[in-house]
Amino acid sequence: MVSDLKNDSSSVTMPEHAAPQEPEVAGPSFPSLVPVKRHSYGLAGTGNLLAHGENLAVMERLSDYLRGRVKCAYLDPPYRTGERFTHYDDDANHEDWLRDVTARVRHVWELLADDGSIWISIDDREIHYLKVAIDRAVGRENFITTIIWQQRTTRENRRVFSNNHEYLLLYAKNPRKFAKARNGLAMTDDVRGRYVNQDGDPRGPWQSVSANVQAGHAVASQFYVITAPNGRKHVPPNGRCWVYNQRRMELEIAQGNVWFGKDGNGVPRLKKFLGSGGRGLTPETLWGANDVGTNDHAKKHIHSLFPGEPLFDTPKPEQLINRVLHIGSNPGDLVLDPYLGSGTTAAVALKTNRRFVGIESGEQAATVAAARLRQVVEGEGGGISQLVDWAGGGGFDFLRLRQGRS
Ligand SMILES: C[S@@+](CC[C@H](N)C(=O)[O-])C[C@H]1O[C@@H](n2cnc3c(N)ncnc32)[C@H](O)[C@@H]1O
Repeated sequence: MVSDLKNDSSSVTMPEHAAPQEPEVAGPSFPSLVPVKRHSYGLAGTGNLLAHGENLAVMERLSDYLRGRVKCAYLDPPYRTGERFTHYDDDANHEDWLRDVTARVRHVWELLADDGSIWISIDDREIHYLKVAIDRAVGRENFITTIIWQQRTTRENRRVFSNNHEYLLLYAKNPRKFAKARNGLAMTDDVRGRYVNQDGDPRGPWQSVSANVQAGHAVASQFYVITAPNGRKHVPPNGRCWVYNQRRMELEIAQGNVWFGKDGNGVPRLKKFLGSGGRGLTPETLWGANDVGTNDHAKKHIHSLFPGEPLFDTPKPEQLINRVLHIGSNPGDLVLDPYLGSGTTAAVALKTNRRFVGIESGEQAATVAAARLRQVVEGEGGGISQLVDWAGGGGFDFLRLRQGRS
């Protein structure tokens, strides 16, 4: 257990870290933040920062460094549950809470890269208020979607309704750029199984998708008669038109990209090949526990890292954050989490080769987050480690706010 953050080193140069001994790299330095040698670990000067302090103040101090560089920001504020957890109080009043969280979102917004995104975890209690407040703060046109995460799989019988899900609100600095930059998900066995090579096509397995679309926004060139190779004529169904104009459709038919059924008499459909996915599967808005874990998984993981120590009550599963960082960033990108808690975002960033800045105001910055990241640097095997073949490495600098303004 690590504690007493205030009595650490006050050197202004970046620290020499504890083991493992690896060559130091010159990293950025932040005059108004004090490096704390004994909580930093592994390779120094990576740009990975764990800052102990109030997040707004820390972000202000790091503004010059972070502005325009944050590719993916994940915010997991206290949800205003009314509880007093072991590591922090979560009983702010509604107005104060809403003002504070919105102010943090507004600040993070200024730090985002052009194609960056901001993901905010929240539950049923405050989501609707927070959504409206953030719309006002950063522009409703930048809202991308709400994701529903199945955070528990067991029934909570003591309540009127068993609350089994939470939300993530997703906003993008520039939705068009984000649409181009965001990553798709890996193909699942379930989806792969839908691709079958019904006609022995040398290009491999395919599935057929509709060749007609709703006629609402159609232009005249999308209404015509398709003649199948066997001479059969096809008109689009009522209220619909063909997805391509006639010239393009004839080209697709000539290239063997249109399927008319086994006997050649079927409604034309387009062949979509397994290998043509390119950017992977389009992420859906419903995230199940089987894919991204539950709160319970996360607690068990933290417990396994710190057996016998007071449990951090509200960690997120690494699988959940892995999906967020996968969609919203690439290896080498900078990830920001101003409510770091037990350090999940930083742990996932390390394991997936992102750079991170994590901020936490409680003592758990050192006692849980830094202590966890030491284990991660040493090759900790829980969470997503197996999935990403994590064998350890990297490092981080622990900083704390200098007392008073500087
Ligand atoms: C819900 S927890 C985050 C859990 C985290 N996602 C994880 O996986 O462990 C919220 C954390 O934000 C911290 N926090 C709350 N207000 C803060 C502030 N203004 N500045 C920095 N940290 C803050 C709390 O101390 C708490 O550890």
